[in-house]
Amino acid sequence: MESMRPSSTRWSKWLVVVAAVAALSCGPAGVVAPPSTPPGETPGPASPLKWAWQGAVTPTSFVVKAKATTPARLTVREATPILPDPPVLRWPPEGFNTPDARSILTWNVEGLQPGTVYTWEVENEAGEKLEGRVKTFKDGQYDFKLGFAACAYTGSNSTVFDSIRAKDLDVFVHMGDFHYEDITRNDPALFRAAFDRVLASPRQSQLYRHVPIAYMWDDHDFGSNNSLGSSAGRPAAQQVYREYVPHYPLPLDRTGAIAHAFTIGRVRVIVTDLRSQKTPRISDSRRRSMLGPAQLTWFERELEDAAGKYPLVVWVNTVPWITESWFTTGDTWKGYRYERERIANLIYRLGLNSRLVMLSGDAHMVAMDDGTNSNYAPDAPSRTRGFVVAHAAPLDKSTSFKGGPYSQGHSEESGQFGMLEVKDDGKTLEAEVTGRNIQGDVIPHMRILLHCAEGTCKIEVPSKPSR
Ligand SMILES: [Fe+2]
Repeated sequence: MESMRPSSTRWSKWLVVVAAVAALSCGPAGVVAPPSTPPGETPGPASPLKWAWQGAVTPTSFVVKAKATTPARLTVREATPILPDPPVLRWPPEGFNTPDARSILTWNVEGLQPGTVYTWEVENEAGEKLEGRVKTFKDGQYDFKLGFAACAYTGSNSTVFDSIRAKDLDVFVHMGDFHYEDITRNDPALFRAAFDRVLASPRQSQLYRHVPIAYMWDDHDFGSNNSLGSSAGRPAAQQVYREYVPHYPLPLDRTGAIAHAFTIGRVRVIVTDLRSQKTPRISDSRRRSMLGPAQLTWFERELEDAAGKYPLVVWVNTVPWITESWFTTGDTWKGYRYERERIANLIYRLGLNSRLVMLSGDAHMVAMDDGTNSNYAPDAPSRTRGFVVAHAAPLDKSTSFKGGPYSQGHSEESGQFGMLEVKDDGKTLEAEVTGRNIQGDVIPHMRILLHCAEGTCKIEVPSKPSR
């Protein structure tokens, strides 16, 4: 751990932990793909500075991870400083950090000012740079924008990533299928190579350097199609997630689940791992689990805690929850109905139905439900409304439909994503959930509003598709 050495009193509150963390792996180093080249341009020589991205943002901190085959350093500046000539903040203060055995550098930047825009750059000894930008969250109520999406071809350079970046998001929740390598071998090098290919995409690199990420895997980036906790690649997937991803603390690290949670303004975001602990569809359906016992207990405690503290709760649940339509395939909550009922009962008993929003991926569609079809709580009286469900995918994979029915219908186009925009004055929290097309425009009918005050939210649907 090193403390930075600022020259002014203002900066002396900063404490920055620089951790060039040695990887725990004993596997071979990952294969580094050359950076993708935009159409019409000639590829240049491979740079020793491969990629950088950021995540785990809070009101006072964020994490930068970079891949570099030679030493590098991180510089952070306020984008619009109040003081003239603010000091340049650099880690290490002198010289450069040496990458670990996997060529990874990790900077845990702490002691920042809430609600402040910072620019940063990773620079190597040859003067090559990758720059980024982050806006720290504010403490308490404030207006923010969260993006969410899933499912892109490995290394995709789709323009959808530019459309997402243009939204000036505070955080982007990637809900999985970050790549489609379908790795079924316990070989960390394969997972590292997959991340390297994605992060070499110019448009994805731009997005992840300018919007902090909160990333949860789904089936194709954890294992193969419809993967389970028994996937042979599970240890390697878990190991490389920790090595490569700038992530929030992982409270279930002991079990291998990468579930995590964070607070943005007065909204609690709970991100569950529906792959690494998932059991097969064994004949005794009561023993089937999506979350596994430890994660289920953690999730229930998160819900109980959030119910008493936050006007709005977001549950990132990657796979389809609503499964009453004729078109429901196996990789949904349908086969795990007892666990679904247990969770739905808790959400109902906690009074969270009106103030919980589920964000989902996996199915390659945008689909939304205003709560008409999402209640699976046996304890709730019939016709009790469930919570808002918003699916947003695919980033650029081909399309597919799963689950439903959805009150707002669904959209099957490539290049889709979702947004949750919050305006919060501390008394009333207004949330708008939208599905977006590749240009970033709202898809018809894919808009649900929540007006939240005094422990409940009123759901408004501006337009419904005709039946
Ligand atoms: Fe997918």
